[in-house]
Amino acid sequence: MQIVVEHSEALRGEVQVPGAKNSVLKLMAVTLLAEGEYRLTNVPDIADVDTMCDLLRALGVQSKRVGTHELVLTNTGNITPVAPFEQVDRIRASINVLGPLVGRYGSADIAMPGGDDFGSRPIDLHVMGLEAMGATFELNRDGIRATAKDLHGATIELKFPSVGATENILTAAVLANGVTVIDNAAREPEIVDLCNMLVDMGANIAGIGTDRLSITGVKPNQLHSTDHEVVNDRVQAATYISAVAVTRGDVFVRGARAEHMEMLINRFSEMGVGITPQQDGLHVTCQDRLRAIDFATLPYPGIATDYKPLLVGMLAVSDGTGIATENLYPGRFRYVDELMKLGADVRIDGHHAVVRGVEQLVGAPVNAPDIRAGAALVVAGLVATGQTIVSDIHHIDRGYDDLVGRLAGLGARITRRS
Ligand code: EPU
Repeated sequence: MQIVVEHSEALRGEVQVPGAKNSVLKLMAVTLLAEGEYRLTNVPDIADVDTMCDLLRALGVQSKRVGTHELVLTNTGNITPVAPFEQVDRIRASINVLGPLVGRYGSADIAMPGGDDFGSRPIDLHVMGLEAMGATFELNRDGIRATAKDLHGATIELKFPSVGATENILTAAVLANGVTVIDNAAREPEIVDLCNMLVDMGANIAGIGTDRLSITGVKPNQLHSTDHEVVNDRVQAATYISAVAVTRGDVFVRGARAEHMEMLINRFSEMGVGITPQQDGLHVTCQDRLRAIDFATLPYPGIATDYKPLLVGMLAVSDGTGIATENLYPGRFRYVDELMKLGADVRIDGHHAVVRGVEQLVGAPVNAPDIRAGAALVVAGLVATGQTIVSDIHHIDRGYDDLVGRLAGLGARITRRS
């Protein structure tokens, strides 16, 4: 499959932001914690959800899609805490079954997690946190074996606010004896969403949305299933905003939440994008050529690393020179080679990318190296002359719910072909 993008006029109209991949996968994992039926709504129609369903099925949780955006998961209590390689290797979020399995069943055997390949993605912080709570680990090249007789509360300071480590410690702590404090916790909107679902299930969590989470363990029989609406995806929202910006369009991005992307909105504004928060979304306009800016990726509430390929794509056609600094994944610049095939002028220097804006990108065949970079190449294709053919789009399908249909709905000249 490929996505074929033609040079497009200004995007116009309205687009709905789907639910967040990096929330729903974690919400699905916590169904391991308590028996019952869970109904998730606003579930994005993406490949990673199907992969997570496969993984949960292997562990003993059944799932059924209702329509396109609803998912019913059933935990009948018959759980085998062994996560096989075939499922685990396909997505990074498979590591999120670790916390619930250790917390609820006292053991977890998990093959080494896969996901996007943009450099080393260690799990030492997950291990350190769970060890502080009494778990023991055997790690080898094939995977992780964690065991815990009784997890107990602990005060855990993360040296870095890792999203995945925060989630695994949190989801184990809800059933541990006593109080667990996570200092320097990640506080992304998706983690708030996870905390809210856990609280609805009966967990006791204080400090939600801050960098200090305090979790008082409850007994397994105090947890129960729940229904939950997945938070909207700020990265998909940002993708549509950047597409409007480069094509100098006028679009209402329904479901984009300003409070989840304040820093990014400030940066977009500096570049000349008009963003007006309205009830239920953001009105986005852009009339003139974008202005170059410098930016650096940081944990939330900073500029997310997942926004970076979009911003670099925007810098590629901006007036002036901008510097993008990557502070989370030093290897996450590989897509730049692809952007350069479209005529972008980018120089990589360590974890910086120096981007000199060009007047015009030129359509070419490119490969999507990962989810976010793939989407950024599609957006760049909208303002490249002629035709841009994006291959390896299975990466994009992992995290984007109908990117092509949504852009086409705004007037973009874009199709999928096999
Ligand atoms: N890190 C460690 N040790 C650990 C864990 C993380 O050193 O034990 C380091 C990582 O190597 C990295 C940094 O901490 O340099 C950030 O990692 P984090 O744990 O915060 O990220 P993650 O949980 O693996 C999630 C998202 C990513 C997103 C990052 C950062 C999911 C499934 N993935 O990954 O999303 O880039 O947070 O915000 O939630 C994507 O959606 O395309 C994607 C890659």
